Amino acid sequence: MSQQVRAVVARSKGAPVSLETIVVPDPGPGEAVVRIEACGVCHTDLHYREGGISDDFPFLLGHEAAGVVEAVGDGVTDVAPGDFVILNWRAVCGQCRACLRGRPWYCFATHNAGQRMTLTDGTELSPALGIGAFAEKTLVAAGQCTKVDRRASAAAAGLLGCGVMAGIGAALNTGSVGRGDSVAVIGCGGVGAAAVLGSKLAGAARIIAVDIDDRKLDTARRLGATHTVNSKESDVVDAVRDLTGGFGADVVIEAVGRPETYRQAFYARDLAGTVVLVGVPTPEMKLELPLLDVFGRGGALKSSWYGDCLPSRDFPMLIDLYLQGRLDLDAFVTETIALDEVEKAFERMHHGDVLRSVVLL
Ligand SMILES: NC(=O)c1ccc[n+]([C@@H]2O[C@H](COP(=O)([O-])OP(=O)(O)OC[C@H]3O[C@@H](n4cnc5c(N)ncnc54)[C@H](O)[C@@H]3O)[C@@H](O)[C@H]2O)c1
Ligand SMILES: [Zn+2]
Ligand SMILES: [Zn+2]
Repeated sequence: MSQQVRAVVARSKGAPVSLETIVVPDPGPGEAVVRIEACGVCHTDLHYREGGISDDFPFLLGHEAAGVVEAVGDGVTDVAPGDFVILNWRAVCGQCRACLRGRPWYCFATHNAGQRMTLTDGTELSPALGIGAFAEKTLVAAGQCTKVDRRASAAAAGLLGCGVMAGIGAALNTGSVGRGDSVAVIGCGGVGAAAVLGSKLAGAARIIAVDIDDRKLDTARRLGATHTVNSKESDVVDAVRDLTGGFGADVVIEAVGRPETYRQAFYARDLAGTVVLVGVPTPEMKLELPLLDVFGRGGALKSSWYGDCLPSRDFPMLIDLYLQGRLDLDAFVTETIALDEVEKAFERMHHGDVLRSVVLL
């Protein structure tokens, strides 16, 4: 058995996305079908459409989603039909070398659905990040569903499924930002703005938001940035050092994914400080740094995969903080749109007009 639903598909590299009818199989063992309520538009969806992630077209886009479990397959015990869930792309296996070493947030063998969703002619779809949620319903591994409090808005909750979790986790988990720290965040789109929010949550004393767009800096200030730097107008390294007693920040979070911004992060950090790269570079990018500076400046140069999050630990906790009014997830939802407006949302993202457009179904 299977069912047909409407979904947003990227058929070929660089071409506009289209609304298609897709076939969603009934859940097999360990799988779940989720009725999507909301799904944010992330830069990574655009990367997929542009062929920047792989060539496995056609892609079923969308991966920052919340919805309600409709059906589960054999052996599924963690979630049940009717549960309100956030979808994640880290359903940990429990058995790989990372999991066995007690670091499941690095899991190297995360679970996705075993069956494939298809176009009506049988062409197999590649779901973005193993999710594919610009769709009325999607098929995932049951472990990709994290149950959270139903009182949260689906539009806000879904954002924890990728970009906002990546940003908050870059600060809290990867950067280990702590009370009294100074933090600089370079690039304050959805991910960077969330890193600002995460740094505030962690008790950072000084949070310096850096972007080339004043609108993003205004939002960052609303979310907790104590200082802002427009890097079109001033030198980032000098500005961050000026704001930190001449030394640089304890933690610098790079949320753009480019060599020039990484270099800024590297030099805007205090001796023995930490750089966290959460922005995703493209294959042709190269970085050159004096090795003596890598040694001499010390500290840690880290990458943050999905904010080093553990969905079962982090999603319910962050939703609780949201419901208590301590984590403003609503601030990330610039606009809500319909399923057939994803292409327009890419355009607005490209022009920097939005933090997040969220598809409501
Ligand atoms: N590591 C992860 O797990 C993970 C998860 C989700 C997204 N990402 C990545 O994070 C990055 C940011 O994603 P997003 O959704 O926030 O994108 P976005 O387009 O919303 O934000 C990017 C921001 O960077 C700013 N910017 C661009 N060039 C800049 C420069 N030279 N200096 C300073 N600011 C600059 C833009 O003005 C914009 O505000 C992307 O590379 C995305 O793929 C990583
Ligand atoms: Zn694992
Ligand atoms: Zn994403």
